[in-house]
Amino acid sequence: MSADTSTDLLKVLVLGGGGREHAIVHALAASDRVAAIEVAPGNGGSAGEPKTTNITLDGEDPAAVAHYVQSNAIDLLVIGPEAPLVAGVADAVRAIGIPVFGPNGEAAQLEGSKQFSKDFMTRNAIPTAAYHVFSADERTEALAKLDEMGAPVVIKADGLAAGKGVTVASTMEEARAALSECFEGRFGTAGDKLVIEECLVGPECSVLCFVDGSTVVPLAPSQDHKRVGEGDSGPNTGGMGVYSPVPLVDDATYQDMVDTMQRVADALVAEGIEYRGVLYGGFMLTDDGPQVLEFNVRFGDPETQVLLPRLRSDLAEVLLATALGSLDQVELSWDDLAGVSVVIASGGYPDSCETGFPITGIEAANELDGVTVYHAGTKRNGDGIPLTSGGRVLNVTALAPTFEEAIQRAYEAVDRIHFEGAFSRRDIGLRALEGSYT
Ligand code: AMP
Ligand code: GLY
Repeated sequence: MSADTSTDLLKVLVLGGGGREHAIVHALAASDRVAAIEVAPGNGGSAGEPKTTNITLDGEDPAAVAHYVQSNAIDLLVIGPEAPLVAGVADAVRAIGIPVFGPNGEAAQLEGSKQFSKDFMTRNAIPTAAYHVFSADERTEALAKLDEMGAPVVIKADGLAAGKGVTVASTMEEARAALSECFEGRFGTAGDKLVIEECLVGPECSVLCFVDGSTVVPLAPSQDHKRVGEGDSGPNTGGMGVYSPVPLVDDATYQDMVDTMQRVADALVAEGIEYRGVLYGGFMLTDDGPQVLEFNVRFGDPETQVLLPRLRSDLAEVLLATALGSLDQVELSWDDLAGVSVVIASGGYPDSCETGFPITGIEAANELDGVTVYHAGTKRNGDGIPLTSGGRVLNVTALAPTFEEAIQRAYEAVDRIHFEGAFSRRDIGLRALEGSYT
């Protein structure tokens, strides 16, 4: 049964197992339109949601997912991470007539290949840093280009590298080392080509948009904290916390970013590339205006954990309308609140960390006004006790009328949660206090 009338109850399959997917499942579980949710693989949080079952399925195998969707009467497939999108899972499921939230493999190249993304931006006059692409057999030319550009300079592996393929080199030594690592296989085939980019300066800001082809519905701006340590020190991570909206972004700057996203959607249509899902624009707010650093072809993690809790509309309706191309018929409404989400990580993250420790205090944290705890790297043991199972373990989201209160609530909740080796950055959201909330 395909979900094409507004009265059908939906059976939804969600791919992924992080905090982002728990936030998606949590919102879907609250929808009257949703009868049942399956999550592959899910985590200890999705396991505890109403109507929800964690399942085992190779989410990166297009044929396996299409077969599962068909034989289990799934009405809507929601793809969380980039890998299944780049692998063409959406294509395979659309081909059997089932609505999918997430773009096809070709469009997913906007995230899957830096070169594809940069070439697309350049031919469509989307503002982005100047760049040059080199393959491994052009090492001499690449080194010459580095010398010509000088430090600081940015070196990016072309393919997917789990957020670790980018080096912002402040010295030539660092730049050359990044080039060598990339060409010598640190990122596998993702590093067969690299992009050398002009280094942009400014605060970063992300704007995620629902895109159903032509209609673009932007979400509030958000700002991630990528470094592991306070004051943005230490190595990059998958993200240690996020806040939204972003007070330093005034209305004109926000509109500028939204206009850029609309131009991207229009350019995709003009190039014959269908896009149905979330398009994530990562921007640098330079003195010359917002420039695109990257696209992600999916919800951000942890951005989703601070954006979706503010959505008042039914998420299932929004995802289905995006999948069916009828987003223009949906009115989205949002709570006018400040949101902060703090990651609690395992000791040692982002390097290897020990896992399997019992987690206490999640319920006590959830009891606080405006607080929702999303699970990321967790699983449940036979008694239903949550155990740590990854580097980023929990995302503690707090909403409040002001950032001062949201930050205070988030850390009060963080302090109620305990497991061996747990740590979090204590400065998430403080930057929001430096500007005025527009
Ligand atoms: P990306 O995966 O392309 O977003 O890069 C990851 C991070 O590297 C970004 O969030 C920025 O902090 C930084 N970055 C990427 N490109 C540039 C650039 N051209 N100039 C300065 N920083 C950059
Ligand atoms: N938080 C950045 C990302 O999802 O890629």
